[in-house]
Amino acid sequence: MTKNNSMSLVDLDEGGVHHAFRSDVLEGLSQRQKAVPARWLYDDAGSELFEDITKVPEYYPTRAERSILEERGAEFRELIGPDRAVVEFGSGSSLKTPLLLSAIDPAAYVPLDIAGDFLRASAAELQAKFPDLAVYPIEADFMRRVELPTAVADMAKLGFFPGSTIGNMVARTAVDLLRSMRETLGDGSQLLIGMDLIKDPAVLEAAYDDAAGVTAEFNLNLARRINRELDGTIPVEALHHEARWEDIFARVEMHLVADRDIEFEVCDQTFRMAKGESIHTENSHKFDERSSTMLLLAGGWTPVKRWLDAEERFSLILADASEPRNAP
Ligand code: AVJ
Repeated sequence: MTKNNSMSLVDLDEGGVHHAFRSDVLEGLSQRQKAVPARWLYDDAGSELFEDITKVPEYYPTRAERSILEERGAEFRELIGPDRAVVEFGSGSSLKTPLLLSAIDPAAYVPLDIAGDFLRASAAELQAKFPDLAVYPIEADFMRRVELPTAVADMAKLGFFPGSTIGNMVARTAVDLLRSMRETLGDGSQLLIGMDLIKDPAVLEAAYDDAAGVTAEFNLNLARRINRELDGTIPVEALHHEARWEDIFARVEMHLVADRDIEFEVCDQTFRMAKGESIHTENSHKFDERSSTMLLLAGGWTPVKRWLDAEERFSLILADASEPRNAP
């Protein structure tokens, strides 16, 4: 299947190049601190590499969140109930989804992802596991407002946003996204959202710089993608991966750092990096109970229940779209 099909909601030109990718990269590389938004890490190769990251021993969030989903099914069932339409934002390979779906018994499942081929393959796998469930995969950038299929219009919605992907956004963008989810999902909706917790910086940095080098490959794939899709000449062998805990922002930052002075082209524009200079490629914010509550409230969601894994490394929060019970 071609990527430039009419079903796609992702903005493509005739050459199949993402307009937004090109402008984000050209703009980002022109800044004093070079930066490319983390969403561009997830082409099909990047999505596969991310799946590999979830299996390295240092990367605990996936296992921690999974254990919450495994243990709390009865509580999900009680607080969420059956027959909702589950809308998953950035579904990836949908590996955690079966745990939720079998716990709550929903009427429909709408996975949204920007990586189209990956999305369709995962949706087909999930459909095979749940033959009676209505599955409507949508290739979409969930950072924009999404039109849900009319088939689910009258169903109450549960947004599912696992993995602490919300942590990849700065507060202002996270609030915009939460508000747009609130609009997409409508009155009476709920949101089940994963948020990774602040902890020992050594544990955090190891999680984003595993010994096997999978996270490094994931990060370097962005430079390779730029070369592949935007006629880039970035000397990838002159870059190395770095993960840094920035305490003031409560986040792990990923950077691609130049080992020597380099010069390269992207879409016929020339860029330079001095030795030691970096391209900032990802933020992964971490939360405590108060900061997660504050973020959700700012985004129009009222926390209902918060679960932690046994080792208290990760949180999964159920929130609803009701008005908060406070004075103005
Ligand atoms: C996309 C939020 C699940 O920030 O932890 C993993 C992406 N980046 N290792 C995260 C990621 C480097 C990940 N999530």
